[in-house]
Amino acid sequence: MPAPWFPLLASSVTSPLDPASPQAGQVSGVFILTGAVMTVILALVCFWIGYILLRFRGRPGDADPTPVYGNKKLEYTWTFLPLAIVTWFAILGAQVTISARPKTAAGQRPDVVVIGHQWWWEIHYPASGVVTANEVHVPVGRPILVSLQAADVIHDFWVPQLGPKHDMIPGDVNLDLNHIWLEPREPAVYDGACAEFCGNSHAWMRIRVVAQTQADFDAWQRTLGQPLAAPSTAAAEVGMKAFETNTCRNCHALAGLPAATANVGPDLTNLGDRSTLGAGVLPNSKENLAKWLADPQRYKPGCYMPDFHLSAADLQGLTEYLWRKSGEGLPLQGAAPPPMVPGGVPSATPWPMQPSGPPSDPSPTPAAPPSSVVGSPAAPPSTSPAPAPPSAAPGGSR
Ligand code: CUA
Repeated sequence: MPAPWFPLLASSVTSPLDPASPQAGQVSGVFILTGAVMTVILALVCFWIGYILLRFRGRPGDADPTPVYGNKKLEYTWTFLPLAIVTWFAILGAQVTISARPKTAAGQRPDVVVIGHQWWWEIHYPASGVVTANEVHVPVGRPILVSLQAADVIHDFWVPQLGPKHDMIPGDVNLDLNHIWLEPREPAVYDGACAEFCGNSHAWMRIRVVAQTQADFDAWQRTLGQPLAAPSTAAAEVGMKAFETNTCRNCHALAGLPAATANVGPDLTNLGDRSTLGAGVLPNSKENLAKWLADPQRYKPGCYMPDFHLSAADLQGLTEYLWRKSGEGLPLQGAAPPPMVPGGVPSATPWPMQPSGPPSDPSPTPAAPPSSVVGSPAAPPSTSPAPAPPSAAPGGSR
């Protein structure tokens, strides 16, 4: 239920004043308390100023008032009373900061690792080896430990209804310093966004937490680990070829396609199961995927996804190939499916893991110059993680 104190703010789609977890409850509690105290102070100050202006206003013929110098009582009061109030606020803030983000136990492993990239989120489940992007699935009923890391620049993970925001610092993978706890009370979808300016498409770096019952969460994880099937249509075959010849796999991973393991861009294995494309720019649908593939820069200016000027056949094929619901399978190319553990999901990711940013050599695969590419879609950022200058932005700028 939205908090009634700030109806305008609380009525927005996602609000820190509509907490859905114990951690967010603490944050909104301290916000509302300090806001209320400050509102009372503001009202008192405004009242007294108004009263004094009216009561002691100058009238024609008044003599000059006598100046008042030095009133120790008054000076001590207006120095120490505000000091006490802001000290109290600082203590409250520090208490919530500490209690909403308990320390990790020695040797504890995270349930989820979220890695910020320009401009999307890489998501790992170290226990199962499942990898996805932009949507964090978590079970309800227990606190989920989330490790926060960054691959290029500073990002900030913020899902207002679920707790405090937290920076993601490149190169700093210390779990005890860089973690949050997600503990949604109810199965639901909670939206958030990157809260640290991180370049061109910072505003299009949305994140979504999907809270599920433990059973639904387990089913979701198993689905992501299903063995993969061969393409079922001619169009999907064309799409698979287009995926390879257009160097898609230099940036994107696709489980079952051996040379497609890069993580410069999101893992595309279960693209059709996500609810948005481009970390929030478009609702996910086959039609929108085709639009996105045809001109990514139109929807997400400055993003590292080049406009490949695909032919109509390639565009249709790629859409067919990539946009599937889980269980529809993806083609294998002579490789075994990901190793499975008894639970039916891929085997564990080693921990601690280091986020890998853009590869030093962005073209490790035998990618022939794509024949369908017109112009020069620049390769993804190679040695420099900083955003390319506008003139070198892939696909041109608008
Ligand atoms: Cu990532 Cu702003």
